[in-house]
Amino acid sequence: MKLKILVTAGDGIGPEVTNEAVSVLKEVAQIGGHTLELDHKRIGGVAIINDGTPLPADTLEAALNSDAVLLGAVGANEFNSLPPDKRPEAGLLQLRTALGGFANLRPIFAFKELEVNSPLRPEIIDGTNILFVRELLGGLYFGHPREWDKTAGKAWNTMHYTRDEVVRVARIAFQLASKRRKKLTSVDKANVLEVSQLWRATVNDVGRDFPDVAIEHQYVDAMAMHLMNQPKNYDVVLTENLFGDILSDEAGVITGSLGMLPSATIGGKVNLYEPVHGSAPDIAGKGLANPLGAILTGALILRHSAGLEAEAAAIEASVRKVLEQGFRTPDLARANPQGFTVLSTTEMGAKVRETVKQLLAVSC
Ligand code: NAD
Ligand code: IPM
Ligand code: MN
Repeated sequence: MKLKILVTAGDGIGPEVTNEAVSVLKEVAQIGGHTLELDHKRIGGVAIINDGTPLPADTLEAALNSDAVLLGAVGANEFNSLPPDKRPEAGLLQLRTALGGFANLRPIFAFKELEVNSPLRPEIIDGTNILFVRELLGGLYFGHPREWDKTAGKAWNTMHYTRDEVVRVARIAFQLASKRRKKLTSVDKANVLEVSQLWRATVNDVGRDFPDVAIEHQYVDAMAMHLMNQPKNYDVVLTENLFGDILSDEAGVITGSLGMLPSATIGGKVNLYEPVHGSAPDIAGKGLANPLGAILTGALILRHSAGLEAEAAAIEASVRKVLEQGFRTPDLARANPQGFTVLSTTEMGAKVRETVKQLLAVSC
């Protein structure tokens, strides 16, 4: 197997966590005799500083010519006062648009070993296994008109969806649900927004092709509460762009840290892989970042872009094993009543690497 991956590490903790994800991928590739062709390009704040734009042309070209793109994170405080189209985040949104993936898969599961780290009680979170399918190329993020008219003291954005945009993402969500526990919860605000009424009607229409999947609709405000009260109730959760952004960070409370969550964006020309967390400027450059979300994102590359299911599962099993052995990054050991061994970003990466090597050696 040969896989060409473009790494766009980005800003803040992006380079720290992607380094660990890449080193785990290299280990797995070497053991299995697979060829990884890795290229590195700039995106985000680091690209604004060096190239004058958050998405340089050579980054875009390399991305379009790869089998998969692994992104760290973008964003830095020094750019916070810039308008949206000049910020590091604009580079990521342009990249998402160019690659064309519209279905952002964000799996959320409770790790037994991390239950003490969650503010939710173990009996609430135990066994939670949710797959968010977040629409990634529409809604308020991309709708026009949009403007901040400073003289008039007014600003506006547009939440916009076409039926086709809803159909294509709903179809993927139903297909995934039919391979899981056959329940799809669609999130909207159909009691207030016309866009949500279109969303709900379209999801029901697509659902007719999937009679084995039960459909449930929830308003986004109620869903924010249900997710914390009864996360085990959910299987596949389908959302528009902004609602999925908000609810998936909230769901990070179930795993105990945002640093644990991976994501994969499918459906376009080239799949895009990024952990759910951001550039975390508050901890950047200190070796405090949790690389497990990025490492689990690497596993998703092997699953969705290389068909290497056993290898992807081995990475996921290694993460679990390292946690079982009591190793934690600081975000996973807040109170640390159990005397966990607290590791730096690179030490955690090395533990996963050693473990995956052992696991794959046994299965060979
Ligand atoms: P954030 O996700 O960067 O951080 C939120 C909190 O979680 C912080 O306290 C941070 O320290 C912690 N955290 C996040 N990831 C962690 C990890 N791997 N290990 C340990 N702790 C972790 O969100 P924010 O602070 O709201 O945003 C910071 C910047 O990141 C902003 O510019 C934002 O736009 C950007 N952002 C980028 C992406 C992306 O590139 N995909 C995603 C989200 C936010
Ligand atoms: C995410 C991030 C991005 C988003 C930002 C950085 C553009 O928050 O991937 O969750 O809102 O999609
Ligand atoms: Mn987000």
